[in-house]
This record gives sequence, C-alpha cells and structure tokens, in this order.
Amino acid sequence: IKKIGVFTSGGDAPGMNAAIRAVVRTALYHNLEVAGIRRGYEGMIAGDFMEMDRKSVANIIQRGGTMLKTARSDQFRTPEGRKVAYDKLKAEGIDALVAIGGDGTFTGARVFGAEYDMPIVGMPGTIDNDLQGTDFTIGYDTAINTVIDAVDKIRDTAESHDRLFIVEVMGRDSGLIALRTGIAAGAEAIIIPETKTDIEALCARLEHSRRDKSSKIVMVAESGEAGSAFEVGRQIKERFPHYDTRISILGHIQRGGRPSCMDRVLASRMGVAAVEALLNNHRDEMIGIIHNEIAYTQFDHAIKHHQEINPNFLKIVEILSL
Ligand code: F6P
Repeated sequence: IKKIGVFTSGGDAPGMNAAIRAVVRTALYHNLEVAGIRRGYEGMIAGDFMEMDRKSVANIIQRGGTMLKTARSDQFRTPEGRKVAYDKLKAEGIDALVAIGGDGTFTGARVFGAEYDMPIVGMPGTIDNDLQGTDFTIGYDTAINTVIDAVDKIRDTAESHDRLFIVEVMGRDSGLIALRTGIAAGAEAIIIPETKTDIEALCARLEHSRRDKSSKIVMVAESGEAGSAFEVGRQIKERFPHYDTRISILGHIQRGGRPSCMDRVLASRMGVAAVEALLNNHRDEMIGIIHNEIAYTQFDHAIKHHQEINPNFLKIVEILSL
C-alpha cells in the first residue's frame, strides 16, 4: 500500500474529524500518502480528492461535523457508479480505503470490496451506536450527552408546570440513544423499537408515579414501536385528558457539536488501528473496541446484526422509574 483514501459517508457524527485526523497522521507516520475524498461515495465518483498532510488536519479534533463533508449516494448503488469510482481511485493512485460511517457506508464498502481489488477497513461513525462489533460507535457519547443536557432543561419546565413531556430522540432502527439517555435523565418511561410497548401498562405506571412526582418525561426513540412522539402523546392524552402534555423532538442537534473526550479518544484509537489493519492485510472489516480492546468484524456481520439491548438496562428502567 502506498496511498490511502479516507472518507466519511452517511449521517455525520461528532468525532468524525478526530477520526480523519487520526487516519491521516497514522498514514504519514507509516510513510504512506493519504488523500481525503470529499462527500463520501459521491465524491469518489466525481473524483473529488484532496491531498492531506499533517497541517490539513490541524485544529480539527475538537470540531463537530466532518471537514470532508458527507453524503448518501444513489449512484454508488449501481455497478456503473462503482466502476467510475474505482477508475477515479486508480487514476489518483489510491490503493486502499478507510471508510468512516454507519451501516449504509459499510454496505457499500462490502459490495465494492467484493467487486474490485481495493482493501477497505471501516471505522464506525454514527450517533446511533447500532453496529455489531464495537461497544461504542464514534459520536454516540457526544449525542447522548447532548440529549441529557436538553432533557435536563426540559425537566425544569416539566417540573414548574407539572407537565408530561414526550421527548423524541434519534435512532433509525435502534433504541440505544433513548434507553441510555432515558436512564440518565430519570425518564418515567422509555419507548424503543426493540421491545413491545403496552400503552395501558405505561399509562398505569405514569399514573402511579404521579403521587410522588408531578413532572414526567417519556423518552421515545424515533423508530419506537408505539409510533412517533405525537402518536404516543395522542394515546396518553386519550386516556388522561387532564395531563398537561407537550411534545419535544430533539432532532439534528443530536448530530452536531464538539465531540466529547470519549469520542475523541475512541476516534483516535480506531484511526490508528484502521491504518495499521490495512498495513497488516486486513480488508472488508470494521474496527471496533470491545471490552477496551481493538476488535475486527467483517462488514457483513457488523451491518446485519444490530447491537442488542442489554436486558439489565430494561430492568434498571423498571426499578428506577417508579
Ligand atoms: O443514522 C444516524 C441518524 O441520525 C439517525 O438516527 C436518523 O434516523 C437519521 O440519521 C437521520 O438522517 P438525515 O440526516 O437524513 O435526516
């Protein structure tokens, strides 16, 4: 390997810049050239490359977003699009890739790596934390801290007005953001796609806890099995018309902002490991950290098996939310 291409793809996540920095600096440390590919697979097809040196990644470790920009690419889903991408990479002298993103990114990487002789190693960059093969993805820690910061503020108003707030958080197919932040913010109930929600039982719990506590927070994952926050609100209101209810959808604030210390360190460790994995002939694998050790997981496995919910967490909610 002489020249590595690095790119971010899919939804952005705090810590992606720290990841790019780590990849570039590790490549240079090992006397490799490194090119940044702008706008993910879209930029690959367009030949949107930039030479990277130590200076080009200076002063970015603390920044949210991604300096390389990101995109979701329809063209790359087609064999023609991937052929153009491969030709552009070859013309640029890029002979290996580090892909930073989530399951869409690795789905593309898996297909591309099978079609062409192009070693690819992935780094998990998504706020959803929904990939198998790592305890945490880059961006998750910052996102959950953003959520609890917001929910703590919402709790003030809930308390002042004796209100019920239904707070919707992100997680396309996953309740991991809702579950952890729900515990941390002391939510009275949590609705996630991984478990069935019995709305009657939920309402009974809300009513029960009303004796000791006048404010209430119900945390809903956007993909929650009981429907959107509005739908959950409607169902609760139907049963308890006297509740003063408000809906709050946190949205994309969860994706932005300065990465936390945990995310910067995670991205740095994984960036070093990704480049060294390529040098050690790994390919078609995602770097992860499991029990504080670097782990390698085939793309196939990382994307197919979403990270599971720890049943102990559900138990904690049950015990502490009453
Ligand atoms: O995968 C990350 C994520 O933020 C999901 O939680 C959410 O469903 C989705 O991306 C939103 O994507 P977009 O940026 O297209 O609105």
